[in-house]
Amino acid sequence: MYTTSEIIAEYGITENILKEYIDKEQIPLTNGEISKKHFQSVLNFIENTNNRIEKSLEGKERATFNYNFNKNKLNIYKDDAISFLEKLPSNSVDLIVTDPAYSGMNNKLQLGKGRIVGNYSEKGEKDGKWFGEFEDSEENYTKFLSECRRVLKKSTGHIYIMFDSYSLLSLGNIVRDYFDVKNIITWDKVNIGMGHYFRRRHEYIIFATNGNTRKIRNRKFPDVWRFKRVHGSKYPTQKPVEVFQAMIHASAEKDFTVCDPFLGSGSSAIAAIRNQCNFIGCDISEKSIEISTSRIENYVNTSIDILQEKSMAVDENIFWR
Ligand SMILES: C[S@@+](CC[C@H](N)C(=O)[O-])C[C@H]1O[C@@H](n2cnc3c(N)ncnc32)[C@H](O)[C@@H]1O
Repeated sequence: MYTTSEIIAEYGITENILKEYIDKEQIPLTNGEISKKHFQSVLNFIENTNNRIEKSLEGKERATFNYNFNKNKLNIYKDDAISFLEKLPSNSVDLIVTDPAYSGMNNKLQLGKGRIVGNYSEKGEKDGKWFGEFEDSEENYTKFLSECRRVLKKSTGHIYIMFDSYSLLSLGNIVRDYFDVKNIITWDKVNIGMGHYFRRRHEYIIFATNGNTRKIRNRKFPDVWRFKRVHGSKYPTQKPVEVFQAMIHASAEKDFTVCDPFLGSGSSAIAAIRNQCNFIGCDISEKSIEISTSRIENYVNTSIDILQEKSMAVDENIFWR
């Protein structure tokens, strides 16, 4: 079904490690190919082989920050989400938690000059926008989802994607073409925000698996999550760390690799550290890389989160005891 060189190219494993496994398990090769029957055991072995991600990104120019914390690794890159995902090996990530910068909401709501939120001119915005938006086209989103599916581990992969109401209507259905959607979670921000009609107080999170049946940590978690929004944030659209902590707590075990290709201020990375996970992420904006890496560095050295000093959780004991 697959030749060993195809497996090496696709899954980012080294020839020696693969050969050692094939010899040890006495896996038969027919004309250099591994049969369908034996492929699953090879895949399981590959999924549990460490360092594939680092190896596949080795020597790539855009590595901007890497950090070891306790035994976990954090790697952050300045890159476009799709081109970053394309560099990762298949079947290498346990969990994706992400909050893309959709352009649709801005366009529909016509907020000011097309700003995402508020006035950030004093913080260095250019052309009325703090950061680039991820184009909401079906084509772009399809490319993004297919790369997410490729890098997520087949046997265990879970994914959480955040949506505002507009992007959920326009793009949410496409997620079902790539993943098994299990829930649409409502993030209740507790206090009302802006809005010309009913004022917005919530966002959505699609939770899906990569076709596998791996469960979440337990069945007590509700699908409405109450976490207050972060006021006066240094980075626009900064989400409470607890939103990502809930995702990671529900879906990850210690030492899992968590990925966020729309990193922003780094809230998902702080959540991964708190859950003793490895983390890999990127953002296209220089400002995001600057802010998130100094936030993370500070946190690993002092345990103080300089961008969110207190917990935003309202029903904390639903998730953490
Ligand atoms: C909604 S924000 C993420 C906020 C983040 N969850 C937090 O808590 O701070 C979306 C991020 O996507 C980034 N972005 C926009 N287009 C991108 C692209 N094509 N590739 C990667 N990142 C992109 C923006 O710079 C922004 O930081």
